[in-house]
Amino acid sequence: MRTPGTRPIVSDIGILSGEADQSLDTARQVSSESDGRQMVYLETYGCQMNVSDSEIVASVLRGSGFGLTRDPDSADVVLINTCAIRENAEQKVRRRLETFRSRKQKRAPDLKLGVLGCMAERLREKLLDEEKLVDLVVGPDAYRDLPNLLDASLESGQSAVNVQLSKEETYADISPVRYDSNGVSAFVSIMRGCDNMCSFCVVPFTRGRERSRPTASILDECAKLVDAGYREVTVLGQNVNSYRDGVNGQSVSFAELLHRISLLSPDLRIRYSTSHPKDCSDELLHVHRERDNVCNFIHLPVQHGNTAMLERMRRTYSREEYLALVERARRIVPGLALSTDIIAGFCGETEEEHRDTLSLMEAVRYDHAFNFIYSERPGTYASKKYEDDVPEEVKKRRLSEIIELQSAHSLESNQRDVGRVLRVLVEGPSRKSDEQLCGRTDSNKMVVFDDAGFVKGQYVDVRVERCTSATLLGTAVSSGANKLEASSPATTVGAPQ
Ligand code: 5AD
Ligand code: SF4
Repeated sequence: MRTPGTRPIVSDIGILSGEADQSLDTARQVSSESDGRQMVYLETYGCQMNVSDSEIVASVLRGSGFGLTRDPDSADVVLINTCAIRENAEQKVRRRLETFRSRKQKRAPDLKLGVLGCMAERLREKLLDEEKLVDLVVGPDAYRDLPNLLDASLESGQSAVNVQLSKEETYADISPVRYDSNGVSAFVSIMRGCDNMCSFCVVPFTRGRERSRPTASILDECAKLVDAGYREVTVLGQNVNSYRDGVNGQSVSFAELLHRISLLSPDLRIRYSTSHPKDCSDELLHVHRERDNVCNFIHLPVQHGNTAMLERMRRTYSREEYLALVERARRIVPGLALSTDIIAGFCGETEEEHRDTLSLMEAVRYDHAFNFIYSERPGTYASKKYEDDVPEEVKKRRLSEIIELQSAHSLESNQRDVGRVLRVLVEGPSRKSDEQLCGRTDSNKMVVFDDAGFVKGQYVDVRVERCTSATLLGTAVSSGANKLEASSPATTVGAPQ
């Protein structure tokens, strides 16, 4: 067991700047200076929710006196926050664990190696007992227990494990340590787990049942972010728009929650991820329409364009219902930008069904899409009931057709913005040049423009002059008034959409 008071409480962990990379399967690293404490190196794979979880882990560790380091070579403990959504994500993490294990065997026998998050539950026996790859396995609902488990393992030299899933845990009272934030945009986790049981998806098994965090604690965290100078929050949940806080006799829907967050400050932009079409209510669409600082952008994963496939995927809507939703959303929220997730090569997919995905894309013309090849996940309904029978080359070819079509649509969408003046929230220097800044529009498009003395967190109006399918390039025409109310971010000069 942990002996309290054996190490000093870390006073604080500085917020590091850097461009936020929200892509999947990206490693993130924690940083801080060592001063004789047990030092932890934390690396994160997977979705935004995992990034947010690592901020909670950092807070729990800090509160128990651990230090955090950017340098794995100087760490006493290496923790990998893992993703299990697709096979290649798991393989990537495994390779990383093997690298650390071999480092431990050769150079650092006392190093503790731990697996956190989505791979923990399913692979605990394999990782701990069979392969003896790691010393510590901690599931996504057991992070409060991490200091005890670490202490136990550090003191006894034994392995330690807690993969218990919870029906209540939301980490509502834990203030995340935003160690890798750009100081402008932050993630705020508002619900955990998923009850949807899409047949291809392992998340309900790795993360457990849906539960929502109390509204008051969310509003409190957002208000603190505003006070700390943040200008954008992305509220997160596996099925974020099924949020409902009904604990204190009053029920707060997701739409109501967004509305309340939007009232905190006109300078705070609000996004969310990831939503399910079944929970995209008219009430929510009206919040997008009525509140200028709720972004006119929705990530609305469709997964497939064919109704029979959607049924096999257990998505609970048909192609026609999804298209009707898109039509309704665009009618209620003029200028709404949409992105999606699409899976190519799910069980039994015929060529004709695949073409339905392409035709749905043509009908919707998404601004952006995340596209994946289906990979079977153990324990899912699909793995038990369907055959993963689309050959790998066919899956790859279908994926490349989807990607090619989406690139054309993204380019078209960006070309429509050329000539317009868009309001951009400055995130920092661009990746390619210190003389240029980058930031996002309300519709989540990345804009790069020359630095004329603007600062991070400022709203700047930029005239778009050129574009690629991924980025808008332009020139600042004025400094934003730092008030979203001054001109709606969706309001553009130039040709109507
Ligand atoms: N294979 C491929 N893609 C998957 N996703 C979820 N499970 C799988 C799987 N088994 C995709 C879905 C989801 C996104 C986060 O990952 O498109 O929306
Ligand atoms: Fe997985 Fe479906 Fe839940 Fe999304 S909604 S996390 S795809 S089960």
